[in-house]
Amino acid sequence: MKPTVAIVGCGTVGTATGKLLSRAGYRMTGVATRSLETARRAAKTIGANRFSDCPWDVSRGSDVVFITTPDDTIQSTCKTIAEHQGFEKNAVVIHCSGALSSDILSSARDCGAVVATLHPLQSFASIDEAVSLVPGSYCTIEGDQGALPVVRQMVKDLGGILLEITAEKKTLYHAAAVAASNYLVTLTHLALELNKAAGLSNDISFKALLPLIRGTLSNIGVNGIPDALTGPIARGDVATVTAHLQAMEKDAPGLLPLYRCLGLYTVDLAKAKGTISTKVADQLVALLEPQGGM
Ligand SMILES: NC(=O)c1ccc[n+]([C@@H]2O[C@H](COP(=O)([O-])OP(=O)(O)OC[C@H]3O[C@@H](n4cnc5c(N)ncnc54)[C@H](OP(=O)(O)O)[C@@H]3O)[C@@H](O)[C@H]2O)c1
Repeated sequence: MKPTVAIVGCGTVGTATGKLLSRAGYRMTGVATRSLETARRAAKTIGANRFSDCPWDVSRGSDVVFITTPDDTIQSTCKTIAEHQGFEKNAVVIHCSGALSSDILSSARDCGAVVATLHPLQSFASIDEAVSLVPGSYCTIEGDQGALPVVRQMVKDLGGILLEITAEKKTLYHAAAVAASNYLVTLTHLALELNKAAGLSNDISFKALLPLIRGTLSNIGVNGIPDALTGPIARGDVATVTAHLQAMEKDAPGLLPLYRCLGLYTVDLAKAKGTISTKVADQLVALLEPQGGM
């Protein structure tokens, strides 16, 4: 029989996880969140009979407790539940933060529970989006040996793809997720700002760049890195890179440091791809360095 599950924190991830686990045959003991009205709605969505604004009301008697409150309240929420004897001995207590390790759940460990994290490596804007995107997404887990078999099975039942990491390396793993997701937004913004300096409106510019971004992602998917790298640095086109820097110096000087920094990283990728000689790579590095000549 599947374990019983309580959800504490009924936002996007908590409600979606509850709904998916309930669909997979887990029995929901109840849901709790700060606002009773939110808890009532979440219970209806998940198909849970009990809802509360008091976490230990629903965590007591549960085999598994998800603490899906915002990152900065997970530790204190866990501690409050522990202080109210809200964890069963051997219960599995889980949070879903990508940045924080299972060690922040140590107050549950002190009550005889085992702890873990289950991080869906995905970005969700809404509960419905999370319900449709968790299946097929990588779900990264770490935690106590006693907790991992249950969590591995849960990932399978959620339709996720299992990825395991250690608690010590979780921060680096999260930095990678930030680079892949958040910095893609930052890079797109850099491109929009350069187009703005070129006189293009944001609206047109975004529409024009989106097929290029999608095409590049597809190219990365097909060819991998560094083979997917194209453009002036991959070609060793020193004259074009010089012209970019000169144009930016004139019309968008504030964007130069980021452009130079990304360019230097890209020279290494072009070297790894094997399309530029060491001599050309050295010329590009001299040009792109913070005080490089143009
Ligand atoms: N969203 C994503 O894309 C995503 C992806 C992967 C992992 N995660 C992780 O998933 C976890 C939850 O994120 P989320 O996006 O679902 O957050 P969210 O939508 O903001 O939901 C958080 C919920 O926690 C409740 N809450 C806040 N403080 C509480 C407290 N002290 N006690 C009980 N409930 C409390 C809120 O209650 P009220 O509604 O009553 O205010 C809200 O329902 C986080 O650890 C996050 O890092 C999120």
